Amino acid sequence: MRTPILAGNWKMFKTVREAVDFVKQLPADDPATGVEKVICAPYTALPALSEQLRGTSYLLGAQNMHFAEEGAFTGEISPLMLKELGVHYVIIGHSERRQYFNETDESVNQKTKAALQHGLKPIVCVGESLEEREAGRTGEVVRRQTEAALAGISPEQAKQIVVAYEPVWAIGTGKSSTAEEANETISQIRGVMAAKVGEEAAQAIRIQYGGSVKPDNIDSFMRYPDIDGALVGGASLKADSYLQLVQGVQDARR
Ligand code: 13P
Repeated sequence: MRTPILAGNWKMFKTVREAVDFVKQLPADDPATGVEKVICAPYTALPALSEQLRGTSYLLGAQNMHFAEEGAFTGEISPLMLKELGVHYVIIGHSERRQYFNETDESVNQKTKAALQHGLKPIVCVGESLEEREAGRTGEVVRRQTEAALAGISPEQAKQIVVAYEPVWAIGTGKSSTAEEANETISQIRGVMAAKVGEEAAQAIRIQYGGSVKPDNIDSFMRYPDIDGALVGGASLKADSYLQLVQGVQDARR
């Protein structure tokens, strides 16, 4: 059984103070034990959150990193720097980075390999644009992105990867994919992974859905056993909504 994972992607929201205020609202005594809970915060908030979350069941994530350990890369953050802060997860290849910051399939692969090498768990994002979807190219696009991300990765390493299927047109738009469609694409992604790293590893890899997930629709996605949780933007920014999402995942898997 794969442990479902609910990850909040705060994107470029929250100052350090706002991030700490959020964490203070999380219950110390956590009832949702069957769900892995992750908060992917801006870099600036990571040191404070690392302190605040120590000893709790919430895990810290970053939203990007460079693949090199160090070097003359102005403005970048390395895997070693994240590790030092107690970061567990790192989002790689989010569509906003692909779209606005020149992230390519190749850099996604380099970063995924670097994360694994340093003991960070990558949350690798894949997903088609509206144009690609309307052209009937969803399957082809997620296949290309998934195969590229996994290049040169062993089956044992691959088990540490989380994949987030996020159709670009569903992000921040209020238009989520239907759960049935999401499940179908996620099953295809698992098939691509099985061909690449073997059936056993593919069955161990968790695949989330992302794109306008809210407390009132999370249940529809979690009904499908191939959907192993969600990567949530907007609805993860308020502690009560984040906790409802966690509870939604927990209830669905009971
Ligand atoms: P929204 O949940 O705001 O649509 O964002 C999804 C997302 O991009 C998570 O990474």
